Amino acid sequence: MSKMNFETIILEADETGIATLTINRPDKLNALNAEVLGELETAISEVNRDEAVRVLIITGAGEKAFVAGADIKELNTLNKQTGEKLASRGQHIFDAIENSKKPVIAIVNGYALGGGAELAMACHIRIATENAVIGLPEVSLGLIPGYGGTQRLPALVGKSKAMEMILTGKPIKADAAQQSGLVNAVLSPEEALGYAKKLAGSIINNGPLAISAAIEAVNASGRANGFAREAVLFGQLCETDDFSEGTSAFLEKRKAQFKGN
Ligand code: COA
Repeated sequence: MSKMNFETIILEADETGIATLTINRPDKLNALNAEVLGELETAISEVNRDEAVRVLIITGAGEKAFVAGADIKELNTLNKQTGEKLASRGQHIFDAIENSKKPVIAIVNGYALGGGAELAMACHIRIATENAVIGLPEVSLGLIPGYGGTQRLPALVGKSKAMEMILTGKPIKADAAQQSGLVNAVLSPEEALGYAKKLAGSIINNGPLAISAAIEAVNASGRANGFAREAVLFGQLCETDDFSEGTSAFLEKRKAQFKGN
């Protein structure tokens, strides 16, 4: 995959193994309608299928927004059944991001509201630009977050801060998001992509099987089987060629050449 054609997103990969997915509806501040959600789902599955891709970066087109939420035009027509179905679908797609075998880095380049904040929270690492504004304003629409926000935000910032953000619906700016642990770093819009790519490069230097196992183990943290899952994954890695290569390379004082098997 060097570039795949979609209507509402752009997915392209470079020769270093970094794919970039840009949500591309800048005139609607990249709001997530059914088409964007469907294309996101296809793109995540393609990224996981393509062995050449090692890290995915997700960002929004334009200078104003990462994603300004679910498309309110579509929300407006929902009833009990279609509402629950939409929330389940959004959750399913964002779960696929969280459980992706390849690390996913969000560059939150402006408004990340509602579904946009939930999309960023499903990613493994978040880099914000200085103009980022992150929040879950659903209660102001008479709703609650439905794409995993009530579950992921407490895990990232603690229950107390999550309650404050969800019950007031008030967004926070980039610096406050970093202080509360919601984003890993804040950079200027010009620097953010370079920083994310550098981070991706550091990840790519490591064994791909270990990276996938690490994502799964960290995702299991806080769950009843978290420690057990960590031990199982640790054991599985001990029988991989990458493990043998990584430990031998250290002992032989050379750089490891990981092959992903
Ligand atoms: N769904 C659908 N359309 C959206 C949208 C959303 N979530 N967010 C923005 N848009 C559209 C606007 O309707 C507008 O379209 P138009 O030009 O056809 O009228 C366009 O994007 C630009 O938005 P606008 O509101 O004019 O920009 P702004 O700079 O004045 O305000 C925001 C930016 C983000 C503060 C404002 O757009 C907003 O509050 N959006 C909704 C955020 C939200 O509640 N998201 C949670 C949904 S669950």
